[in-house]
Amino acid sequence: MSTTNRPLRSGEWFGAEGRNGFIHRSWMRNQGFADDVFDGRPVIGIATTWSELTPCNAHLRDLAESVKRGVWESGGLPLEFPAMSLGEPLMRPTTMLYRNLLAMELEESVRANPLDGVVLLSGCDKTTPGLLMGAASVDLPTLMLTGGPMLNGKFRGQDIGSGTVVWRFTEEMRAGRMTAADCSEAEVGMSRSRGHCMTMGTASTMACVTEALGVQLPGAAAVPAVDSRRYALAHAAGRRIVAMVEQDQRLSSVLTRQAFENAVRVNAAIGGSTNAVVHLLAIAGRLGVPLSLEDFDTLTADVPMLVNLMPSGTYLMEDFAYAGGLPVVMKELAPLLHMDHITVSGRSVAENVDGAQCWNRDVIGTMDEPFQPAGSGTVVLRGSLAPSGAVLKVSAASTHLLTHTGPALVFDRIEEYVVAADDPDLDVTPDTVIVVRNAGPRGYPGFPEVGNVPMPRRLLADGITDMVRISDARMSGTGYGTCILHVAPEASVGGPLALVRTGDLVAVDVSTRRLDLLVDDAELAQRRTTWQPPKPVTDRGWVRLYSEHVLQADSGADLDFLVGGSGSAVPRHSH
Ligand code: FES
Ligand code: MG
Repeated sequence: MSTTNRPLRSGEWFGAEGRNGFIHRSWMRNQGFADDVFDGRPVIGIATTWSELTPCNAHLRDLAESVKRGVWESGGLPLEFPAMSLGEPLMRPTTMLYRNLLAMELEESVRANPLDGVVLLSGCDKTTPGLLMGAASVDLPTLMLTGGPMLNGKFRGQDIGSGTVVWRFTEEMRAGRMTAADCSEAEVGMSRSRGHCMTMGTASTMACVTEALGVQLPGAAAVPAVDSRRYALAHAAGRRIVAMVEQDQRLSSVLTRQAFENAVRVNAAIGGSTNAVVHLLAIAGRLGVPLSLEDFDTLTADVPMLVNLMPSGTYLMEDFAYAGGLPVVMKELAPLLHMDHITVSGRSVAENVDGAQCWNRDVIGTMDEPFQPAGSGTVVLRGSLAPSGAVLKVSAASTHLLTHTGPALVFDRIEEYVVAADDPDLDVTPDTVIVVRNAGPRGYPGFPEVGNVPMPRRLLADGITDMVRISDARMSGTGYGTCILHVAPEASVGGPLALVRTGDLVAVDVSTRRLDLLVDDAELAQRRTTWQPPKPVTDRGWVRLYSEHVLQADSGADLDFLVGGSGSAVPRHSH
C-alpha cells in the first residue's frame, strides 16, 4: 500500500463526493476493480504507443503488463492508455510530420485524466521524443521505458543492421552487384525478432539519450526487446513510478540543464543520430531549459566516440547490451558528465553506474582507447548558406570531403533528384555538391529523412561511394555519407538555400565549421527579388496547423504554440 500523505491529483476524481465521484468511480468499476482501488492510492498511467502498424512497438502491450505488476505490487493503480503511434517503416510522408501531434495528444490525455504519474512506453524513432515532449508540458512524475532493440540481423553468416544495410544493399543492387533475390533473403534476416532498429539509428540513439537524461532506468536502453531482462526492467519501472509519485519527483526535476548536457555528450560518445539534435532541442523547449544548436558542438568537442556500432562502426545493439550497455559508457565518460544528477531511479548517475563493467572492449572503448577520437560526432556548420546552422555527422562522412569546394547541382524536389540519380548521363563528377531543397519542416512538409539522397548511378558505376550532399531535410539515424542536413532557415521560408543555382560554388570546411555559398551579395539580392514561396500543400487539418506553426530545425521543429508547458491543473469539471 502506498504511504504518501499528500493528497494526490487523482483524488480530485476518485475521492470526490456526490455526483462527480459516482460518475468517476462507477464506470471504472465495469473493469472489475476491487472496492479499495479508489482509496487514494497513486494512479499510474501507462502510455503505450503500441500498434501493429508500428512493428517496432508491437510488443509494448506485453511490456505494459510487466509495468502493471510493479505498480500493483507497490500499492498503485495502473491504467494503460494509447498514444498515437508513429512507425517509420510505413507512415507517409514522414513520421516527423506527426511527432508534435503525438506530443500534443499525449499532453492532453495525461492532463485530462486522473493520473498521478506516467510511464511512457516508446520504441520507434519519433515515439520517444513525442511522448517526452508531451509529458514535459504536463510535468507529472514520469518514467520512460523504451521497448528495446531487435536481435542482431543475420544474412549469410554476417550480422546486418536495420536501415544501414537497406541503404547499402539497395546501392549494391543499383550498381548490379546484388540481385533482388539476394535482397529478399536479407529482408527477412534483418528483422527477426520484436523490437526497434538494432543499429545506432534514431530509436537506439533516443533510447540511450533517454537513459542519459535520467528518465529511464539504468541499462534500459540496450537490453533486447525479447530478453527477459527487459521485462524485469518493466517490473522495476512499475515499482519505481509509484515511489516517484510518493516523492513527488516530477519530470522537470529530472530534465534539468545538467541532464541535457549529459545527454548531448552521451550522444557524441555513442555516435548517435543527428535526429537527437532536433528532438533534444524540442524537449528542452517544453521545459524552458536553455539548449542551443551550438551546445551540440561545444559540449562535445572533448568527447571521443566510445561505441563501435553501425552505421559508424561494426557492431549492433545486442552486442552493446552484452558488453554492458550505456552504464559502461557513462562510467567511462564520468569526468565529462554531471555524475551527481538525480535520475528516475532515485539515485545519482554515479550510483547508477557504479557497478558497471565492460565485457567487450571491441564494442565499448575507453577514454584512452576510444573507437574514434573526439570531434567525430555531430558538428554544427554555419555560413552564408546556413545562417541559422546545419549539421553533419562526421563519423558517417568521408574524411576527404570534410574540406571541399564544388559546383552545386540543384534540385527543388527530392523526387526530381531521385529520377536524375539514375540517369547514366547525369552531368555530375565526384566534386559536384548535390543540393536538394524544399524538404525542411515547412517545405515538405514534415522534415523527412531524405537528406542522405542516393548516390548518382553514374558515380557508383565508377566505384565512387560518397559525395557532398546538402539539404534542409533530415537523415535516417541509420544513414551515412557526407550529408549536410537541417540547413536553416529552410528553402521554403526563403533561406539562402532557396537561392542556390546549379553551377554556383559551395564551400564546406568542417575544421572552421563553415558552409558558404560563394556567390556575391548583390547577385543573391537580385535572385531574391524573383523568389516565390511555394504554395501550401493543403488548407485544412493537421498539416495546415503544422505548416503554419512549425519552427525551424535549429529550434527543434516544435510548433510555436507548443513550446513551454501548461502544467497538470484542470480547474473545471466534466459534468
Ligand atoms: Fe522503427 Fe527503426 S523503423 S525503430
Ligand atoms: Mg530511423
